[in-house]
Amino acid sequence: MFIGFGTVGQGCARHLLNNRTFLKNQRGLAYKVTGIVDIVKGSIQNTEQGVDLSKALELVGAGKKLEESSLPGKRGLSSTEMIKSCGGDVIVEGTWTNLTDGEPGLTHITTALENGLDVVTSNKGPIALCYSNLMNLAKSKGRYLKFESTVMSGTPVFNLYEHGLIGAKVKELKGILNGTTNYILTEMTAGKGYSETLKRAQEAGYAEFDPSGDVDGYDCAAKITILANTLMNADLNFSDVAREGITKVTPDDIQMAENVSNRVKLLASARRNSEGRVIASVKPTQIPQTDILAHVNGVMNALQISTDVQPDVTIMGPGAGGDSAGYGLLNDILSINRLRQGATEYQPPLMIQES
Ligand SMILES: NC(=O)c1ccc[n+]([C@@H]2O[C@H](COP(=O)([O-])OP(=O)(O)OC[C@H]3O[C@@H](n4cnc5c(N)ncnc54)[C@H](OP(=O)(O)O)[C@@H]3O)[C@@H](O)[C@H]2O)c1
Repeated sequence: MFIGFGTVGQGCARHLLNNRTFLKNQRGLAYKVTGIVDIVKGSIQNTEQGVDLSKALELVGAGKKLEESSLPGKRGLSSTEMIKSCGGDVIVEGTWTNLTDGEPGLTHITTALENGLDVVTSNKGPIALCYSNLMNLAKSKGRYLKFESTVMSGTPVFNLYEHGLIGAKVKELKGILNGTTNYILTEMTAGKGYSETLKRAQEAGYAEFDPSGDVDGYDCAAKITILANTLMNADLNFSDVAREGITKVTPDDIQMAENVSNRVKLLASARRNSEGRVIASVKPTQIPQTDILAHVNGVMNALQISTDVQPDVTIMGPGAGGDSAGYGLLNDILSINRLRQGATEYQPPLMIQES
């Protein structure tokens, strides 16, 4: 079932629908959507026949409420009522990111795990704030919790780590993890001003009406927290990340960097210090133009993973958008399906305890 049926939830639904035959025949995934619940778009549950996904997408696309439609099913259930009675085995959680207390996603995820359901989510809040508690809960209940699209959207960073780098110890992470700020800095490097570029980003839909989550570095801080805890087994809280956004970057700063063959990027990084602690930060940083990260432009994202055996592996790709983040959720559903069929999962030792 889907909780939160906005840009990302609908993106995932479109992939499920458009690739139904491929998913079934080539990837062994047959599915039925038992419910959809969304504060704005309404809710509908049909555990017997499943909800007609094509109709549901058409309705919300036309701005109509699911419960006011002719779709057969039960109406008016809250998110938690729906989770408890959904009759399915995985929830797709795509509600808004709240970096203060993780709600409402945190309640959705814990309720689902406690009720024996697996969870895939694109919601950074609960994972950045409560990673170890949630993973411990999932483990204790024998369920899976996957969150590929929380960082770099559908660009598969966690899959890359779990499958390609599992034999390596991650020493350092460096990334350009926020498309809005990278777009603004790219335009400023081309000579445009901060305010006019921010306005254009808002008009193009890259930046929110209230852009502080992006330009003040909160979004990047959440992402580097998730990465450090997942890839480096760091005992890191979101509030431990030293954070500086791009609002104080001036055209002069950018020109001075260019004059010495550097480029200003909002860099999120994490590295283990000599005492073994992981230190993370988000700040505007001059990067040499010989570094691949200096050439990641516009809304693109990239992450450089440095390990003991493989110096720098860089992954680059889209960091936002319904299709991309929806693909991340689909990937997680497929991973869980494979695990249920007997594949084994890497289980990091969980040492972290949030208060
Ligand atoms: N868009 C992207 O490119 C992208 C990429 C990666 C990750 N993400 C993350 O994915 C999540 C979803 O993003 P989005 O772009 O799809 O956002 P969105 O379009 O705003 O969709 C979220 C939907 O969930 C609804 N919702 C909020 N609280 C709910 C609740 N308690 N029960 C049921 N529905 C609820 C929202 O209603 P309201 O409008 O009333 O809040 C909204 O319709 C966010 O956490 C975001 O940070 C987004």
